[in-house]
Amino acid sequence: MDNTDVKLLKYKGYYFEGSSADVDFLEHLDDFEIRDDDVFIITYPKSGTIWTQQILSSIYFEGHRNRAETVETIDRVPFLEYNMHKMDYLKRPSPRLFSSHIPYYLAPKDLKNKKAKIIYIYRNPKDVLTSYFHFSNYLVTLEASDNMEQFMERFLEGKVVGSLWFDHVRGWYEHRHDFNILFMMYEEMNKDLRSSVLKIKHFLEKELSEEDLDAVVNQATFQNMKYNPQANYDGILKHEIGTRTNDGHFLRKGTIGDWKHHLTVDQNERFDRIFHRKMKDFPLKFIWDTNEE
Ligand code: A3P
Repeated sequence: MDNTDVKLLKYKGYYFEGSSADVDFLEHLDDFEIRDDDVFIITYPKSGTIWTQQILSSIYFEGHRNRAETVETIDRVPFLEYNMHKMDYLKRPSPRLFSSHIPYYLAPKDLKNKKAKIIYIYRNPKDVLTSYFHFSNYLVTLEASDNMEQFMERFLEGKVVGSLWFDHVRGWYEHRHDFNILFMMYEEMNKDLRSSVLKIKHFLEKELSEEDLDAVVNQATFQNMKYNPQANYDGILKHEIGTRTNDGHFLRKGTIGDWKHHLTVDQNERFDRIFHRKMKDFPLKFIWDTNEE
């Protein structure tokens, strides 16, 4: 099965999702008007985007935090490059929250002028690979793989939405001085959600009462998100995008180290060799296992 060309759109050296990307919009992305109080979540796919969307949305919107309102998270923190609900971004009230998977070099130039804040979430790439393998088989708009071996090949070639993981993470980190950016690790969020929310809140210079902070943390636990229709995207995936089965979920496992159940010894060793070559001298630490500090 090779329908890669339909599912992916290569633009300026980067793979976008073919069915949702809008080339006219991408052509003007560099000039997209950024406001000082915009906030962007930037991630490689499957690194904790939805989680951070939930956290930001409940930090900024009381109606989200106390679940008085039923606006979908995707409409609170829409994807810059995949405007699912055709919003007029220019008319959105401030502060605007956005999500994006773009590589550093496609960022609008005002973001490069540090005009807005960016939170970049990164996750150990074996868990990204595992999560992405399941997600690609679940969603009709992504290319399915027969097995992990086949998906791993595509992932390591960068022939997936988001292109090569190594380039994405390295690119954003090595150009961090051009941006007003906070790096957060998925595994740290997983181990200590409260401290992570505090770190985000501090970066955003937002005031929150103890009670509101508790509510943000509480709304962002895996279990609470899984059973909150606004936060788990199950409806969007099933009814708007389309899924290949009825069994899957966007919030699949939410753990550290699930790759151990999916990679063979050979695949793991191969991954390690490539990781060490590509990430040599890279200063950010990665956590591969729940028991690691
Ligand atoms: P798994 O497939 O490993 O479960 P993204 O939003 O970037 O696509 O990332 C999705 C991944 O983040 C999924 O990983 C999902 O379960 C995980 N995730 C989402 N919310 C989470 C939460 N509250 N706690 C832990 N993991 C979460």
